[in-house]
Amino acid sequence: MNRNAAESRIRELRSCIRHHDYLYHIQDRPEISDQEYDRLFRELRELEDRYPELRTPDSPTQRVGAVPLEEFETVQHAAPMLSLDSDVSEDALHRFDQRVRKALGEQVRYVVEPKLDGASAELVYERGRLVRAATRGDGQRGEGITDNVRTIPTIPLRLRAAEAPIPEFLSLRAEVIMRIGAFDAINERLMEEGRPPFANPRNAAAGSLRQLDPQITAQRPLDAYVYDILASSQPVAATQWEVLQVLNQWGLRVNEHERRADSVEEILDFHSGLESQRDDLDYEIDGIVIKLDDLAAREEMGATSHHPRWAYAHKFPPRKETTRILSIVPSVGRTGVVTPVALMRPVELGGVTVSRASLHNREEVARKDVREGDRVRVQRAGDVIPQVIERIDEPDRERAAPFRMPERCPVCETLLIERGPFTVCPNTFDCPAQLAGQLMLFGSRGALDIEGLGEETARLLVQEGLVRHLPDLFDLQPERLMELEGFAEKSAGNLVDGIRQASHVELARFLFGLGIPEVGSTVARALSRHFGTLEALRSADQEALQEVDGVGPIMSEQISAFFGDPRVREILNALLSRVELVEPGPADHQSDVSETSPFDGLRFVFTGGLEGFTREEARERVEALGGRVTSAVSRGTAYVVAGDKPGSKLAKAEALGVAVLDEDGFRRLLAEHQVSDETGS
Ligand code: IVH
Repeated sequence: MNRNAAESRIRELRSCIRHHDYLYHIQDRPEISDQEYDRLFRELRELEDRYPELRTPDSPTQRVGAVPLEEFETVQHAAPMLSLDSDVSEDALHRFDQRVRKALGEQVRYVVEPKLDGASAELVYERGRLVRAATRGDGQRGEGITDNVRTIPTIPLRLRAAEAPIPEFLSLRAEVIMRIGAFDAINERLMEEGRPPFANPRNAAAGSLRQLDPQITAQRPLDAYVYDILASSQPVAATQWEVLQVLNQWGLRVNEHERRADSVEEILDFHSGLESQRDDLDYEIDGIVIKLDDLAAREEMGATSHHPRWAYAHKFPPRKETTRILSIVPSVGRTGVVTPVALMRPVELGGVTVSRASLHNREEVARKDVREGDRVRVQRAGDVIPQVIERIDEPDRERAAPFRMPERCPVCETLLIERGPFTVCPNTFDCPAQLAGQLMLFGSRGALDIEGLGEETARLLVQEGLVRHLPDLFDLQPERLMELEGFAEKSAGNLVDGIRQASHVELARFLFGLGIPEVGSTVARALSRHFGTLEALRSADQEALQEVDGVGPIMSEQISAFFGDPRVREILNALLSRVELVEPGPADHQSDVSETSPFDGLRFVFTGGLEGFTREEARERVEALGGRVTSAVSRGTAYVVAGDKPGSKLAKAEALGVAVLDEDGFRRLLAEHQVSDETGS
């Protein structure tokens, strides 16, 4: 293809991709499959690689790619980013409404919107192109986070042409959020790693926006809703309601719950309706915002130095409460890790009664210094997981002794051992708590997907002695099950049926369900694909294991120790006589990296010395996430990691515009990716 043809094809591809982005992100009705989309995207990237001079900053390929900043630039907002006057009481809402009616007369129309609990940002579009984004900062000036905001898929780099002309200059206000599912996944991972979790999705969103390295932000699943025009070179519409429609037509995401309201009564209806839906939303809201619909009337009302007089937030009652810790009890999970759990006097948090919260590990208990009897502040982080935020000091009260981990497993009485910040029961095969956890994993969606085998049932089966070892699961008789509490003929039959159906299982799922240390579903799939049969995997030595993408020395040691354990062998043999494994077979050697590996296809180059890793360890970490380490820098290199005294590769990377990370940046990148990776227990 010559340059002219390439140029027109590039233009065509971009407009096509933008259109599908719009359908997917804004309209929620994609018209093409992910594969088709990827194909278009790849074609565009290849053409731009061939003709780099045709690459433009608003190309869909240019969302991620900027190099890390040294520090954020300070940015003056196009207009002050004020905050909202707010209260939880109905009286205060009435007073707001009265003030408005007094100023404007009795006929008033409002727009009501959810009050999104995220991080506020300014987005500046010039001639329809996103040129700048900033945090709210002090309301006058914020931090320039343009490169980070560019990575958010729902924020268009270029506005769509619509009926309403796009002003030359347009400054918008948006709320950047992290959805609760994404937030929970990140936190779960952090806790598994013994790191402190984010307190709430807002912190997670704000923290992600304030990363100096946009590559890290790109890994955080952020989203954004636009709700206001801060400034524009031409008027866009006469009312907020129209503004929202126009913003949506331009391809920006506007919240789907926005309504109009003409009275306090309607506002309260909206408030209570949204409050009852609050737990079903996949993002956090902390109230509703009421805004004058008529933009000219807004001008008339003006603002105080802090907040506009034309808007007001009617908040929901808080989800933070105080309560007392009744006791701290150790709880044993599948991997044998003993977690201290605070049992608390029940409190209501946003409509849900909470009476227990994990304290994660002994170091966390010590850090928060919480003890039995202490008064604590609790919250539901995100939607579900209750957390102890802090202890409330009560100077006159005598406190109990600090919590101490028991010496023996509270379930099987085996002597506990310490592993980093964690305390572990080493009785892997016979501890009933671990067995129940193992059963749950085995039956979980990513493994055998056994219908009817949830947490409660797993515990019951172990507790009642129906399952003493994993293989017993396949010998369950409906008659015995019916003797258990909560089981009737139908449910017992269903469970046995579910187990029978699940006994025909793909190797990858089976491997994942075994709970091999360090082996999550991604690695399980890679192992299955690489070896083709369980037999081949079982007899592989460490060297052979390391040929699998994503498996390094540490993991290979764990895997080979697992299969070498005589108890495992015994259990495995018993299982194999009961399940029918579906094995891809030795011929199947397409690719070892599953589509879900976060570094899938990314090439890394190391230069200079690293303090915290040997080269071998660094390579292992990259490969564990599906990436590759190569020695030469090219345009196709995703990252150059520059340590101490980097060589010419650094200069080459800079010349080619390849992202450069220092050791800290690399470490953060790993941590980020591990968060979203499914591997690990
Ligand atoms: S309007 C001047 N609308 O709530 C009025 N704000 O202080 C500008 N917020 O920092 C705000 N959802 O980040 C508006 N639908 C919404 C909102 C919203 C959330 C945030 C905003 C602001 C805070 C209130």
